[in-house]
Amino acid sequence: MGLGLNEGAVELMVNLNYKSYPVIISPALLEKAGGIVNANLADVSKCVIITDRVVGGLYSNSLERSLEGQGIHAASIWIPEGEEAKSWNEAGDLIGSLIDMGVDRRSLIIALGGGVVGDISGFVAAVYLRGVRLIQVPTTLLAQVDSSIGGKTAVNHEKGKNLIGVFKQPNVVLIDPGVLKTLPLRELKSGLAEVVKYAVIADAELFKIIEAEADRLINGEIRAFSKIVPRCCRVKIAFVEQDERDEKGIRAALNYGHTVGHALEAVSSFGIRHGEAVAIGMEVAAKISTSQGLMEEEDFEEQHVLFKRLGISTKLPNIDPITLVEYMHRDKKAERGSIRLVLPTGIGEKPVIRPVEDALILKTLEELRSNEA
Ligand SMILES: NC(=O)c1ccc[n+]([C@@H]2O[C@H](COP(=O)([O-])OP(=O)(O)OC[C@H]3O[C@@H](n4cnc5c(N)ncnc54)[C@H](O)[C@@H]3O)[C@@H](O)[C@H]2O)c1
Ligand SMILES: [Zn+2]
Repeated sequence: MGLGLNEGAVELMVNLNYKSYPVIISPALLEKAGGIVNANLADVSKCVIITDRVVGGLYSNSLERSLEGQGIHAASIWIPEGEEAKSWNEAGDLIGSLIDMGVDRRSLIIALGGGVVGDISGFVAAVYLRGVRLIQVPTTLLAQVDSSIGGKTAVNHEKGKNLIGVFKQPNVVLIDPGVLKTLPLRELKSGLAEVVKYAVIADAELFKIIEAEADRLINGEIRAFSKIVPRCCRVKIAFVEQDERDEKGIRAALNYGHTVGHALEAVSSFGIRHGEAVAIGMEVAAKISTSQGLMEEEDFEEQHVLFKRLGISTKLPNIDPITLVEYMHRDKKAERGSIRLVLPTGIGEKPVIRPVEDALILKTLEELRSNEA
């Protein structure tokens, strides 16, 4: 690649015609960012890094140094950490700062952070001056395997999450698994639930790797993450390439565990992390699949045991199942009266999307109340 990347660096391509872009995965990538910007983007006038206070404190210096080292003028804007910052007001403030900093059409925005920073920065990069160039540098496991790839951006409205947004494919995605060493265990596990999701819906070999690496993953060993992150990115990329704007029902398979998951997140007022909720949603969907003869009992058990080994609880928190089902009906996926769920058909097998009776969902949720924590 001529950029002095480490051995073991992986470069994947998201093929979307004129919007195609590389996803580069390698340890110690932040220090190489300047060279990568110059190699991939012509004529960058200046670069603004958008990050949050936690990630900024940890990593914005080394990113700025790398850019300045390659002659690219760089400055950072820090937003508060957490979901609250993903708001219309914060986006307006960010745009105000970009204007004050003289950011123009030749400038570059770099989103350095988790999904929150990635989503709001992507949104701002899409609308500011009708669009400026964007690099995603995801720093949570969830952002590395999911939100940084695929171009979905959003801010929240007080009436609901992700209600305002556009598609904005980045120009490059830079993934440094090394930054996961500072990620809190709870965030790491939340991301691991999505990793298990990819394995179940599309990659049986990945499932085996997670099983083999389970202890190292929960100990935060970077070498284990370097194995699984590229495999997950490959799965995500394949779905995005087939269904860029989530219109053909193909990308919908990525919602495995998410219908029940979103309900849990909302009803708990986001006291539950996204991945924690998705894991419970996957347990519900897999249980329903086996009860309908769509998946072998054995496959359900394998998923259940893997969550356990990763220390991810599939016990239903103290929330009334009826409230959850009511929420699911209000959610956008409940078309024509019945709740549609992504139902797995086996480990690594293509899932199906089917309407499921309320009574069966309620019964399954009840059963999860007695799962061990
Ligand atoms: N665009 C998409 O396709 C897509 C997909 C999935 C989720 N999302 C969105 O992503 C958001 C959730 O993202 P998230 O789970 O990454 O959470 P997050 O961005 O809130 O990050 C979680 C916490 O970890 C901290 N953090 C991040 N990287 C760190 C690091 N390397 N070391 C130490 N601390 C670090 C952050 O400061 C934050 O406090 C949600 O808003 C969700 O809607 C978007
Ligand atoms: Zn998700």
